[in-house]
Amino acid sequence: MGVLDQFFKKKDLEITEDMVREALKVIIDPDLDKDIVSLGFVRNLKIDRGAVEFEVNLTTPACPVKEKFKSEAEAAVKSIPGVESVHVIMTATTKGQTKSPQTANSLGKVANIILVASGKGGVGKSTSAVNLAYGLSSAGSKVGLLDADIHGPSIPMMTGVKNPTQMNGDLVLPPIKDNIKMISISMFSGTDQAAIMRGPMASSMVKNFVTQVDWGELDYLVIDCPPGTGDIHLSLAQIAPATGVVIVTSPQDVAVIDAKKAIHMYSTLQIPILGIIETMSYFEVENKKYYLFGEGGGVKLAESYSLPLLGQIPLEVQVSESSDKGSPVVLQAGKASAAYRNFSGNVAREVSILHATRGESLSSFSLKWRGA
Ligand SMILES: Nc1ncnc2c1ncn2[C@@H]1O[C@H](COP(=O)(O)OP(=O)(O)OP(=O)(O)O)[C@@H](O)[C@H]1O
Ligand SMILES: [Mg+2]
Repeated sequence: MGVLDQFFKKKDLEITEDMVREALKVIIDPDLDKDIVSLGFVRNLKIDRGAVEFEVNLTTPACPVKEKFKSEAEAAVKSIPGVESVHVIMTATTKGQTKSPQTANSLGKVANIILVASGKGGVGKSTSAVNLAYGLSSAGSKVGLLDADIHGPSIPMMTGVKNPTQMNGDLVLPPIKDNIKMISISMFSGTDQAAIMRGPMASSMVKNFVTQVDWGELDYLVIDCPPGTGDIHLSLAQIAPATGVVIVTSPQDVAVIDAKKAIHMYSTLQIPILGIIETMSYFEVENKKYYLFGEGGGVKLAESYSLPLLGQIPLEVQVSESSDKGSPVVLQAGKASAAYRNFSGNVAREVSILHATRGESLSSFSLKWRGA
């Protein structure tokens, strides 16, 4: 081959940034309905002859389609003539709200506050909150877990976290267990009487407690709320403006009826409802499902309010056993574990969608009463 031929051949094969970007436009984010280039996900593009390297920066490390994006991006760029190798680095920057006037200082660097709430008690709310925190954390997010259930704190039991030992000025530094910062209201003195506390006293205790913790920088702070719809919830909503709330219900009517009350309360407070999780959905033996508490109560609830169904968790002995041992089920193998991992991915996805569709309105969140 002559020198000129070689020159033209090389020129033909020269890979440009535009070519790579164009090729990557075939990948559409199913939630945001736009391609990953237009969404600004593709960064730090480097081309060294046939070797192409770039970053795909997602809105959450817990993105359920992360692996799919990675292999699609590799395939799309490999199909460009002349490309010999593709190195895709998956990263994430979690979007979040900025501080609102009501936000306690201690929460100032928390990007997203996710409330886990239920109308009825005993439906698997704390189990869901703990497994959500672990699921988000194992995907690579910085996570905190706050047990605000003044009447029945259970996070220390479910995770094995020990009491805090350090302060930063006036604020308590949350102990870290399994990479997650955790605080339970049971770690504070005076909470022994909490079980019989009601109304303003309980509310002010929750307020003090939330404002006394130095959370530092977090992608997600998961709050296990007390069951029901009362003063404490209103106080909590004021002091910790939530990105959204996950409503937990088991399938039976008594739980669903109370979950509806919770939905109404949070929509009155203008806190976005991220979706419904149905727990204790069925018991499975030899591939046959038994619906011990009725079938699909949470599914129907999600449908009737046009809310996302974030997950259905089977009843498994492993769930309660691992909770009692302080090692959440999401860390183990099994169907309930997979369902909880799927649930935490769905929550992260709904938070990302919320930021993409609501944009700035979230950063200026303030608590308003409907019709006020
Ligand atoms: N999917 C499941 N399979 C088996 N047991 C479960 C499941 N989900 C929760 N449990 C068990 O049910 C009990 C109640 O769950 P959990 O404490 O999470 O509910 P809760 O809604 O937080 O209750 P409370 O209102 O008392 O705070 C616990 O013993 C827990 O281990
Ligand atoms: Mg609980």
